[in-house]
Amino acid sequence: MLDPKLQARIIQEARDFMKHSFKPELEGFESDQDLKKPQPPLQKARMRPKEQAILLPRDFEALELQDNLLELLLRRKSARVYTGEALSLLQLSFLLWATQGVKDIRGKKYATLRTVPSGGARHGFETYLLVQNVQGLQPGKYHYLAVEHQLEFLGRVEDASQTISASLEGQSWAAKASVVFYWSFVPYRCEWRYGVFAHRVALIDAGHVGQNLYLACAALGLGTCAIAAFDGPNCDAIFDLDGDEEFMAYTAPVGTISAMDQTAEKAFYQFVEDEGL
Ligand SMILES: Cc1cc2nc3c(=O)[nH]c(=O)nc-3n(C[C@H](O)[C@H](O)[C@H](O)COP(=O)(O)O)c2cc1C
Repeated sequence: MLDPKLQARIIQEARDFMKHSFKPELEGFESDQDLKKPQPPLQKARMRPKEQAILLPRDFEALELQDNLLELLLRRKSARVYTGEALSLLQLSFLLWATQGVKDIRGKKYATLRTVPSGGARHGFETYLLVQNVQGLQPGKYHYLAVEHQLEFLGRVEDASQTISASLEGQSWAAKASVVFYWSFVPYRCEWRYGVFAHRVALIDAGHVGQNLYLACAALGLGTCAIAAFDGPNCDAIFDLDGDEEFMAYTAPVGTISAMDQTAEKAFYQFVEDEGL
């Protein structure tokens, strides 16, 4: 058992981190932007040669999308039972665009404007995928280039099911996902502008990304589940992240779903009934 005093201290520190109150010791803080230091790039540099990039389709009007907002909000829910069928490349492309797609550039190269909001338009996230079953893509790991709307193939993954399960703290149900989204955080992209205030804002930003994935999946009739219980160092290792200048911040498997699996879905929360909660 964790020492109660230590636990209380950790909880207090975490509360203080979340509080948006002025802390006297931060008086006089100046960001690197205030200090006129050069701005970091708007997205991570290409990880593979340009010629190898996979250009994603953008003809989203060809998708059969549920577009009634009331219906979408009612449909949005976490799905953990997947039927393992393939996503089309256009569906995956839509999910990438809905979560991090770039719609415009502010100024010459000051900020990207995306389908999600972000404090100061810093957009500190990078998207990685572990693809198991998407038409037109070989299984393996990928990096998304948001500005170009392209994918980079990073390599094959031995035993993808086991890799997914281990990376998500043993949540083995996720191994049937057609694709798993892994969002890393590149802290300096936000620290350049917000310094000591960057990190709380970035966590708020992550929520927008997750909610857009939920809504886009609901529009396509696909299932997803936000995952905070992931193994950070394990996820970092899959995508060769250094764990400091870039580290994993959020994950979500996506899969095909069936109305027949409602009972299996409900079983995840059987304990609520069993324990009379
Ligand atoms: C930030 C965040 C982290 C979550 N982490 C997990 C997780 O690790 N495992 C899991 O099974 N569900 C996870 N969930 C899903 C929640 O359990 C789910 O949203 C909640 O039970 C409400 O159900 P609903 O999404 O169907 O409305 C997470 C949700 C959010 C927003």
